[in-house]
Amino acid sequence: MSKTLITGSGVFTPSEIITNEELVKSFNAYAKLQNEKYKEEIEKGERAPILYSSEEFIVKASGIKNRHVVNKSGILDPNIMHPVLEKRKDDELSLMAEMGLKAAKIALKKANKQAKEIDCVIVAASNFERAYPAISIELQQALGAGGFAFDMNVACSSAAFAIQQANDMIKSGTAKTILIVNPEICSGHVEWRDRDCHFIFGDVATALVLENAQNATAKQQFEIIDCKLITKFSNNIRNNNGFLRRSYPEGMKDQRDMQFMQEGRKVFKEVVPLVSDLIIEHLAKNNLTPNDISRLWLHQANKSMNDMIGKKVLGRKPEKTEQPNILDEYANTSSAGSIITFSKYSDDLAKGEIGIICAFGAGYSVGNVIVKKL
Ligand code: COA
Repeated sequence: MSKTLITGSGVFTPSEIITNEELVKSFNAYAKLQNEKYKEEIEKGERAPILYSSEEFIVKASGIKNRHVVNKSGILDPNIMHPVLEKRKDDELSLMAEMGLKAAKIALKKANKQAKEIDCVIVAASNFERAYPAISIELQQALGAGGFAFDMNVACSSAAFAIQQANDMIKSGTAKTILIVNPEICSGHVEWRDRDCHFIFGDVATALVLENAQNATAKQQFEIIDCKLITKFSNNIRNNNGFLRRSYPEGMKDQRDMQFMQEGRKVFKEVVPLVSDLIIEHLAKNNLTPNDISRLWLHQANKSMNDMIGKKVLGRKPEKTEQPNILDEYANTSSAGSIITFSKYSDDLAKGEIGIICAFGAGYSVGNVIVKKL
């Protein structure tokens, strides 16, 4: 059976950055405004005041220091508190396709591939700016790629699940060269008015080229050894902003559950064992031990969560170089997080070294991909 290789990766990083200092300043200004507006109700005990956020808490709880975003001014305006974007015409490239295109071009160059050699495009992300036509089909056209394209969503695990799909398609001969793109505009999805989660997310787009080994000419090549996916239903990370919203009594009114909601503590407690057990079992199934692993490219959710997963898998604290962390710079970028770390921290591996790309998130869902540097 033919081998699947990852031969290219790319990251597009939006230029605007929000530091924790700026974020907390704007959140606290919003809290003050709201508390003044509802002073009477708060004094009567009919409404809870909004509590202030703090930089110290954010760094300690998450390891996040900055996040890149597609629009900073709207998010930081205490009277707006979300990105403000210009509506594009239907014949203009959508924002997700535009970001994806930039990451895709970097990945194609690294893979030494022309767009026309791509015969499948998968856009795998947590959120889509429209239902249809698929962003992937728009991107396929914008790139000049051939074959077919489809969108898929498995929240933060979307990239890992897409790698598994692509690996199967390449092995079965359905496609030869597949582009996976993860444009994540998390700033449109997070609730910037909620101090429990306002610091968590950032925006980015990543891309990977996967291909049949016979066609590969890239300098850096990683063979996919095996993929393993699991899902287990949980409401602890949820968003209710579905297409039936208009049909419900409350209609399209601005409601908290239109944005990201989570029970952070429960997620932490339940997802850590799910991920570490899966990685250990997956390695054993492939006759590998944690000692055989040179690098862990983990989903970038939360620094302590990632540190704990790394420690459980390796049986000791991972070295910084073994388990790269980009949370301080990018925050949680959903499905793109593990691919950012792979893209930025994989070229230095020596021939024969093994690593894992592991993503986890809402669903719950976990995807683990074992790769070997060729
Ligand atoms: N500034 C100051 N204090 C804050 C705050 C903020 N921005 N946000 C919350 N707090 C307060 C809480 O209200 C709470 O106060 P209390 O003890 O008086 O009730 C206290 O800080 C601790 O909050 P808690 O939510 O329990 O903190 P935590 O240590 O669990 O960290 C998360 C919160 C979300 C960072 C953490 O639970 C987490 O990362 N979980 C994993 C979830 C995840 O990664 N999800 C993404 C999906 S893949």
